[in-house]
Amino acid sequence: MSLAMTGIRAAYGLREILGGIDLAVPGGTIVAVIGRSGSGKSTLLQVAAGLLAPTAGEVAQEDRIACVFQEPRLLPWRRVVDNAGFGLKCLGVGRRERRRRAAAMLARLGLGDVLDAWPAELSGGMRQRVALARAFLVEPRLLVLDEPFSALDPGLRFELLAILRSELSSDCAVLMVTHDIAEAATVADRIVVLDGEPATVTLAHPLGRARQPRAPHEAHQIAAQLFADRRVAAAFALQACAADIVPLRASR
Ligand SMILES: Nc1ncnc2c1ncn2[C@@H]1O[C@H](COP(=O)(O)OP(=O)(O)O)[C@@H](O)[C@H]1O
Ligand SMILES: [Mg+2]
Repeated sequence: MSLAMTGIRAAYGLREILGGIDLAVPGGTIVAVIGRSGSGKSTLLQVAAGLLAPTAGEVAQEDRIACVFQEPRLLPWRRVVDNAGFGLKCLGVGRRERRRRAAAMLARLGLGDVLDAWPAELSGGMRQRVALARAFLVEPRLLVLDEPFSALDPGLRFELLAILRSELSSDCAVLMVTHDIAEAATVADRIVVLDGEPATVTLAHPLGRARQPRAPHEAHQIAAQLFADRRVAAAFALQACAADIVPLRASR
């Protein structure tokens, strides 16, 4: 098990954000946590990555963890190839070797022509690809993604989700949080819904293994099914729109 969380509670000061979360992400699977803005997704992700200590519960995670956030968090004074290789630098890999590996990874991600560019010269989608390259290069056993593609258009998002699927090693566990159900439905093996104050898991919905990203029409079909479920509607404060509730059956 690459990530196992049991009975996780977390708080900022006196305000409890997570109210007892059980979540497991086995190696080789992508679990997407969805919920509205402010529901505690980033807090959960920080606990998963070991960046925030829970107030109660147990976390067991792999020691090689990479994170990708909504903003790419590149260093503006480093060229693209050195940004991508930054994780390797932290692991003690020498300059020549990390440049070689970074250049190869960037080429696979379609950035072979901009190795020596500065981050400011790239589009948003390209910067996010550099952030992905930086994460993949450390060969993480646990990858945590905090809404990494939310700011991108649907075509770019699909392309990067496809890269995510194809570049991942078969035993890496991925925990992705997003408010975008269709994004979750494109790649996740399981969708987990976070809701309440403090937040708990109100629904865990298995989708079956997606070896390829699901096509947009399929992902939106899954999203439509999910939105028809009372727990999902509630998680996004859409109860009023979900008049004729169809309880969700596990779909495979
Ligand atoms: N560092 C912090 N200090 C105090 N409150 C915070 C902090 N980070 C987040 N919060 C609050 O915790 C709640 C959950 O935040 P967050 O986990 O970022 O939600 P999400 O990622 O789902 O939007 C929000 O109400 C937010 O305002
Ligand atoms: Mg967040």
